Amino acid sequence: MNNNVLKTVIMVVIISFVFAGCKTIPDTRQPTFETNLASDEVRNSAFAKDFPLHYQSYLNNLDDTQMTVYGGSVPHDKHDGINPLPKGYQYAQPYLKNLWLGHPFSYEYKRARGHTYALKDLLHIDRLNNYSESAGLPASCWNCKSNKAPGYIEEYGDAFWSMEFNDFRLEHDLEEHTVGCNLCHDPQTMELQITSEPLDIALQRQGIDWREASKNEMRSYVCAQCHVEYYFQKADVGVAAKVTFPWDYGFGPEEMYQHLNEGNPERGFAGAFADWIHPVSQTPMLKVQHPEFEMWIDGTHGAAGVSCADCHMPYVREDGKKKISSHHWTSPLKYIEQSCRQCHSDKSAQYLKDRVIYTQERTWEQLLIAQDISVRAHEAIRLASEYEGERHSNYDELMAQAREMTRKGQWFWDYVSAENSVGFHNPQKALDTLAKSQQYSREAVDLALRATLYGIAPNLEGDIKEIVPPIMEHSRKLQQSEEHLKSHKWLEYLPLLPEAERIWDLNRRIDQD
Ligand code: HEC
Ligand code: HEC
Ligand code: HEC
Ligand code: HEC
Repeated sequence: MNNNVLKTVIMVVIISFVFAGCKTIPDTRQPTFETNLASDEVRNSAFAKDFPLHYQSYLNNLDDTQMTVYGGSVPHDKHDGINPLPKGYQYAQPYLKNLWLGHPFSYEYKRARGHTYALKDLLHIDRLNNYSESAGLPASCWNCKSNKAPGYIEEYGDAFWSMEFNDFRLEHDLEEHTVGCNLCHDPQTMELQITSEPLDIALQRQGIDWREASKNEMRSYVCAQCHVEYYFQKADVGVAAKVTFPWDYGFGPEEMYQHLNEGNPERGFAGAFADWIHPVSQTPMLKVQHPEFEMWIDGTHGAAGVSCADCHMPYVREDGKKKISSHHWTSPLKYIEQSCRQCHSDKSAQYLKDRVIYTQERTWEQLLIAQDISVRAHEAIRLASEYEGERHSNYDELMAQAREMTRKGQWFWDYVSAENSVGFHNPQKALDTLAKSQQYSREAVDLALRATLYGIAPNLEGDIKEIVPPIMEHSRKLQQSEEHLKSHKWLEYLPLLPEAERIWDLNRRIDQD
């Protein structure tokens, strides 16, 4: 090698170092600030003085009443496809109340809206028992709605999770203490931080320490504090009601299902986990909740390192001049120019929107089919349980398998149903999951048919909507009425609730006003 070539090689090496340096330095460094805020500041408005543009952007969540085709921010009943907004919406799944019967989700389930509404919506929803002293749900619920939750966990430790939910109601201001700044930022430096203990633990179990994560990873981890699947540990082997993520085997529906089927003290439950027993089929069921992070992580964008914030918090000019990360978390279809075209600048906004809807249409069609077969599975087991004709010699075993397939089929359906992108975050996984849901639920029906030597077959023929009509009206109040429980053959399996008046609403006791 002569000297000139050597010099050139050295120059190239130096230049590539410089370039690599330029690329990696901004990626690992967080923008840091020095605020005058206390390290335990929780009030959202306290950040307004230092960050007026960010605070204004955050407040924009309050004014958003815009729908997109499949998403959007008007909180209607998600099972009501008959009434127009704001009560229902054309893209509804009519069987939600049937499939969740016996679980508080069957009382009320609405489309989500922005973070500024998290407390208002939590404290009004019929999933909490607002008719009694006790909410019927543990303090755990505060974890993803209240910016005071990290403080409570510091104060009470693991005892917090199973404390009475209502004991914390009066301490909440609906605007100041809803999902806010301190949950994602260190109030003194504004560095991104994880304040959710459940996520911290779940990442540790993956061998990940978020304190060493890159800025790009943090731009998704902050969302994974809440936009994930979780369960509450059981008191007998775990820490009562502690929020835990079922990620020991991975993030797919099959892997999380395995975690939930194989209890151990570290996971906080024994045997197979159950959120509730479906009263109609006597099946121990699982409820999925918003697994956006798990759906996204191995999709086209997640695998390519495109973060939640890339699409949901793009740079915007709040005051027409300075660029900030948008803090108006909503559907990116409302601002495709900023959220998608920063990368896909070669495509038009219309093209990108059409691609999203192309995926969503196909997902939605299969979602409805999976939902219907899940209902058929519960009905088949109900009929087979009450069947008085000749039974298969292996009846009990076949019925146990039928229940297992009903549980699994509904879990796979709910993984896509509860995920809020209608397939976009991972089109392949969404359709694969729904195909499996349909397979499992159909297997459940077959098993129940075999258990009765096909004796129940005539009762299962035809359109499921006629065999089992969707339950359109159901609530805690209605469950206090005998007449209501006689209005649908599935409702007859529910216990009558004692008559009671509502005593809680929002952050108040309304019977003491
Ligand atoms: C759900 C998490 C979350 C919440 C809540 C949140 N932020 Fe942020 N914030 C982010 C993310 C993500 C970024 C981008 C950080 C980056 O890329 O380094 C960011 C960036 C910022 C920045 C850095 C400058 C910029 O625009 O990128 C400031 C300042 C900021 N946020 C202020 C606030 C204030 C004030 C609030 C409360 C009103 C708030 N944030 C609430 C996640 C959040
Ligand atoms: C502390 C918990 C928490 C964190 C952290 C969090 N979210 Fe949310 N998010 C919620 C809750 C709760 C709702 C529903 C609020 C409601 O409907 O009352 C929600 C709603 C949303 C919505 C729906 C808004 C609409 O208009 O329909 C989007 C989009 C969203 N979040 C994105 C994000 C992104 C992106 C991040 C990370 C940068 C994030 N969230 C971090 C709890 C959280
Ligand atoms: C490549 C861009 C992209 C990324 C990355 C992304 N999303 Fe989304 N997200 C979308 C689109 C597009 C929709 C569908 C919006 C619609 O239907 O109007 C959506 C929908 C949502 C919704 C429902 C919004 C609504 O209007 O109801 C939530 C919540 C959400 N995403 C959270 C997340 C979280 C959390 C992450 C990271 C784990 C993430 N997203 C990553 C593009 C993205
Ligand atoms: C930070 C960059 C980035 C942003 C922001 C982004 N994308 Fe992408 N997108 C990618 C990359 C990278 C791929 C993979 C392309 C490849 O591997 O050829 C991709 C692929 C796609 C694909 C094809 C694969 C699929 O999943 O169907 C579509 C469609 C798409 N993006 C739509 C969108 C939309 C809509 C938005 C805004 C909501 C968006 N993207 C935002 C980087 C981005």
